[in-house]
Amino acid sequence: MSDKKIVMIGLGYIGLPTAALIAKKKLKVFGVDVNEQVVDTINKGEIHIVEPKLDVLVKSVVKEGYLKASIEPIKADVYLIAVPTPFKGDYEPDIAYVESAIRKLIPTLTEGALVIIESTSPVGTTEKMQKIIFTERPELKGKIYMAFCPERVLPGNVIYELEHNDRAIGGVNPESTQKAVDFYSLFVTGELHKTNARTAELTKLVENSSRDVQIAFANELSMICDKAGIDVWELIRLANKHPRVNILQPGTGVGGHCIAVDPWFIVSEFPKEAKIIRAAREINNYKTQWVIEKIKNKALHFKINNNREPVIACLGLAFKPNIDDLRESPALQVVKTLINENLTVLPVEPNINKHKEFDIYSINNAIDKADIIVYLVGHKEFLSILSEKITMDFCGIKNAN
Ligand SMILES: NC(=O)c1ccc[n+]([C@@H]2O[C@H](COP(=O)([O-])OP(=O)(O)OC[C@H]3O[C@@H](n4cnc5c(N)ncnc54)[C@H](O)[C@@H]3O)[C@@H](O)[C@H]2O)c1
Repeated sequence: MSDKKIVMIGLGYIGLPTAALIAKKKLKVFGVDVNEQVVDTINKGEIHIVEPKLDVLVKSVVKEGYLKASIEPIKADVYLIAVPTPFKGDYEPDIAYVESAIRKLIPTLTEGALVIIESTSPVGTTEKMQKIIFTERPELKGKIYMAFCPERVLPGNVIYELEHNDRAIGGVNPESTQKAVDFYSLFVTGELHKTNARTAELTKLVENSSRDVQIAFANELSMICDKAGIDVWELIRLANKHPRVNILQPGTGVGGHCIAVDPWFIVSEFPKEAKIIRAAREINNYKTQWVIEKIKNKALHFKINNNREPVIACLGLAFKPNIDDLRESPALQVVKTLINENLTVLPVEPNINKHKEFDIYSINNAIDKADIIVYLVGHKEFLSILSEKITMDFCGIKNAN
């Protein structure tokens, strides 16, 4: 199989590391991306995304000639698709990028080719894409293989996890599943679990929905406790002393491009059945609004008591602790809303230097100037802050001290 040609369509956070890892195994990989800048950067042996160790890996595989990038796909033995799958206005999954990638590779397909979708997709997407291929190229019916294999890597540790994580691999038929398993065994050392395409598609969505539901439970508790005058952090610590209870921690909401997005792919397709999954999404979104209202109320009380608007230090903008990723971040949403409502906010985010919409303050500067200190994200830099000022803790920072 080592003389096989691999095409990777979509060279972002998932596609590029995967392409580079396959190329490291001395397989010829042709990366395809619609973004010319991405293609040029990679062909220079450089990278356009932030991921530890990826720069060294890409540089070496490009130099050795195992990874090349282009705008258009070529004829290959294996095609992998890792293009975005966002949602549209009304939380409907948007698989237009996957369809466009499929349409692009159709003219290059030959008998025996294996097409694998890695993009997080709604159930039935792989079968739908197969239909599109056979409509355009009916002579390929029964002569190509198709499978779905979702990605579950942790940004920051992608190179290691791509190789070592277990994978669920589901073909549109058993032959496709086996072909895909044989392919992944060339570069994955984690266990390769065989299933069908629809189950593999739902597996990925369910993993993230499960996290979302568990966080929603903690967020709901935090709002109940606030009304009941109970410290939610103490409550959860005590409840978790039960040998079979493990409640997660509440926060400002749920963000990121996976947990806050993927559950909607189930809800939109199974609106009557997916009751808990929808409720969890709504609770986690509501928690962010609740945080905003709490801060606004505190600011109003301050104004009534002091006859002036308070200065509010908002600590953390990222969607989770100790990263710089602001995608779908509830903390960012809180800060933007407060600024839009003309409150005086000093945003602090130790993991980024600047933001295009507002100034970023250093921790000390913000704490010095603030009347109210709001903890939105539990970054490690915030753990040692000591202050007598009014504090609002939405991420359990005091608990971590
Ligand atoms: N990033 C993660 O941590 C992660 C984890 C698990 C699953 N996923 C899933 O993997 C998929 C890819 O995510 P990502 O984070 O790598 O996205 P990304 O935005 O980083 O990269 C996608 C790339 O695809 C390119 N592209 C778009 N349409 C194209 C087309 N028709 N032909 C060729 N190139 C095209 C874009 O220019 C971009 O470079 C998504 O479905 C995502 O949900 C991502």
